[in-house]
Formats: sequence, C-alpha cells, structure tokens
Amino acid sequence: MIAPQQPTPHAPQPRPLWADLLACARLVSAVQDGVSLSTALPLAAARNKWDAAQRGAAQALSFAVLRHLGTARALLLQLHPKTVQPPLLRDLLHSALVLLLPEAPAHYAAHTVVNQTVEACKRTPALRHAAGFANALLRRHLAQPQLLEAARAASPEARWNHPAWWIANLQATLPHHWQDVLAAAQQPPPMTLRVNPRRITRADYQAALETVGLHGSAPDDPLLDQALILDQPVAVDRLPGFAQGWVSVQDAAAQYAAPLLDVQPGQRVLDACAAPGGKTAHLLERTAADVLALDKDAQRLQRVDDTLRRLGLTARTRAADAAQPDTWQAGERFDRILLDAPCSASGIARRHPDIRWLRRASDLVTLAAAQTALLDALWPRLEPGGKLLYVTCSVFAQEGTAQADAFLARHADAIASPAPGQLLPQQAHDGFFYALFTKSP
Ligand SMILES: C[S@@+](CC[C@H](N)C(=O)[O-])C[C@H]1O[C@@H](n2cnc3c(N)ncnc32)[C@H](O)[C@@H]1O
Repeated sequence: MIAPQQPTPHAPQPRPLWADLLACARLVSAVQDGVSLSTALPLAAARNKWDAAQRGAAQALSFAVLRHLGTARALLLQLHPKTVQPPLLRDLLHSALVLLLPEAPAHYAAHTVVNQTVEACKRTPALRHAAGFANALLRRHLAQPQLLEAARAASPEARWNHPAWWIANLQATLPHHWQDVLAAAQQPPPMTLRVNPRRITRADYQAALETVGLHGSAPDDPLLDQALILDQPVAVDRLPGFAQGWVSVQDAAAQYAAPLLDVQPGQRVLDACAAPGGKTAHLLERTAADVLALDKDAQRLQRVDDTLRRLGLTARTRAADAAQPDTWQAGERFDRILLDAPCSASGIARRHPDIRWLRRASDLVTLAAAQTALLDALWPRLEPGGKLLYVTCSVFAQEGTAQADAFLARHADAIASPAPGQLLPQQAHDGFFYALFTKSP
C-alpha cells in the first residue's frame, strides 16, 4: 500500500505582494541610478537573499514598471508635486501606481495594492515613517481618477513611456511609424527559437515540442527557415534537447543575418563583434566555414565558446578591438564580414525595458562614431567580390540608414546589395537594421 503523501512540514508560503513591490522598487531605483537591470538583478538577489521565485517575480514586476515609468512619474508628480524621498519610497510608489493602471499586466484589487504598499513601508526601517504618507497618497489617487488623464497629458514621456529625446528622434525620422515603434516596446516579446539543422529538422523539432506540451509556429518567410515562435515563453530547460544543442533562443529579426551574409563552404568569415555568439553559431549551423569571432569584451567572448560547444560547432575566437585590425591580424582578408555593431539597442526595447531610461541622447553620437570607425577599419579587410553585412538592433536612423548612406558615400568600391534595411519592431520580431555591401571586384 502506498502511504498517503504527508504535507511538507515547511512548504513554501505564497509570497506576499509587499515583498515583490519592495524588490521591484529596489531594481527600479538602481535603473534610475544608471545601473542596468542585468547588473542590478543578480546583485540585489544576492544581497537580499532572494530565491529563484522571488527573483523571477521581481524581474517581471520591474519590467512592467519600467515599461510604464513615464506615466507613473507624471502621476506621482500630480499627487505630490515635490520630490519624494528617499528614492526607494519614490520607486515603491511608482511600482504601486503602475499596478493600479488600467493597462497593468497583473491584476490586483486596488485595496490590496494600497495595503501591501503600506506593509512594504512598515517592514522597511528606512520607510517606516512614510507608511501613512503612502497610504494617503494612494487613496487620493483612487479617489481622483481624473489625475491619471492629467498625468498622461502632461508630457510625451508620460504618454509614450519613453524619454522625450527618444520620441522626438523617432518622430523626425519615422513620421508615419513612430507611434507603432513606441507601442511595440510596451508589449512583452515572444520567445523565438532557432533549430540547429545539424542536429534535427525544424519539422521534427516542432513535433518534439508538441510531446512536451509546447507549440512553435514557423514564420512565413523563406529566410527564416530555422525559426519557430513559441506560443508561450518557457525556461530553456523545458526545451527538448536544449543542452544537446538542438535549439537556441534567438529573435526572428536576428535570424536574418546568417542567410543574408550568404557564406559559401570553406570561406573565411570574420564575425567582428561576436559575443554572446548567437549569429556566429547561426552562420556555422548553416555552412562549414573558417570563422574568426572577435569581441572586445573577453568575458562576453567566453559565452561564444560556451555556445559553440553546446551546439557542437567550432570557430577561432579572440578578444580584440575590431576597429584596430593591425592589433589582431596582420593583413588577413575575409570573404565575408559580419559587423553586428555595438548600438543603442533601441530595437530591442521591449526585451530590455530599462534601456530607454539608461540611454542619453549623447550616446547616439558616441555609438554612431564607433560604428563608423568599425565600418571603415574593416572594409579594407574584405576581399574584392566579398560581402560585408552591417547590422544593428536599433530603430534610430543615425545607426541605420544614415550610417549606411554615409558609408556608401565614403567608399566608391562599395555596392549596396539587397537587404531588409530598417526592420521596425512588431509582434513577431524585434527592430533591426541590415545593410549588405559588396566590394567591387
Ligand atoms: C550587438 S552585440 C553582438 C551580438 C552578437 N553578434 C550575437 O549575435 O550574439 C555587440 C558586441 O560588440 C562588442 N564590441 C563593441 N565594440 C567592439 C569593438 N571595437 N571590437 C570588437 N567588439 C566590440 C561588444 O562587446 C558586444 O559584445
């Protein structure tokens, strides 16, 4: 006879909302201090001893709050026209206000949000004095819903949840699409897979997904012949054969790089900015080529080696500044060059909702100069007849069309070849820019 299952003596209690609100506020404060979420999250998790569930909840909530921070800031200002101190209280209130928005992704009863925010104050020595203030402020918000409309009308930042300079840039260069681009950044992205054809066909992998209750759809695009878009994001350890290299996670727009570069077997290929190696691996999955993968950041380059090992692929990897070819290669020329350049990452704002608040308008000038330097340094390393693919995950013209046009104007031996140009972000894929240059023979 099987003994009835005993209740676990220390079964984990459901986490109270006040703990998640507080965790989220810590992350949002870090971002407002200029720290990226990818840095802040592991630090805060270690410092505050969050378990995996707490960490996941803090991340999910902070994503939602950062997506609506423009509105929350304006609303807090309507409710309390002075600076709220300390910053942790300010961001606790921002977090609570986002949870009370009609468009909030998680639905809690209003009184729960208020009570739990007050509880978060009471449980935190530095905020204990502010419990009454938080209670009064949130109750005032509930009593005066018209303040929300006033807040949204206060500024483009409040209406569109992006910095004013970002909105103005898009309005100037994408007069018919800027609203769609901003709206796309508010939606959680899908999880897209790239099936490794050296291990399994896409159809067989689709079937393997079904056996574990997952569904992946193939995009209707011949260039995206390895892609599957999952109905629901899942942890990678739920993906059949992930550890065995059957599949990788990569946005559909990023999967244009390898087919566009059109590498032929045995060709010498330079992947100039390779880490963490998504596109390096994709190139090698499609064609056996002699690939040199560079990245300036030695730590990130390690991830290229890890990815290639998992997928059973090989490339030469080297930590080096691609803009200074003499320091890493004496005169070698390549048949293909992939320049996936450092950029604002404005095209992947939906995946990293902290980016919009971390970037400054002046960053665009610095980044565009770095892209120009990389393009000009690498062009002489391309064989006549060879192809260079310039890629950014940006929606700003300075990093896309303007950069490509200026390159063509500077290099008489560069011929523009067919490429998608500016891909605007939409449900199925992120925002990317692609230009392909062929060197006249
Ligand atoms: C957009 S990411 C590359 C993503 C990668 N291609 C992939 O698909 O996984 C840009 C990379 O460029 C690297 N980088 C920036 N400046 C560089 C330079 N001058 N030389 C080499 N790598 C550079 C950064 O460290 C970063 O890893």
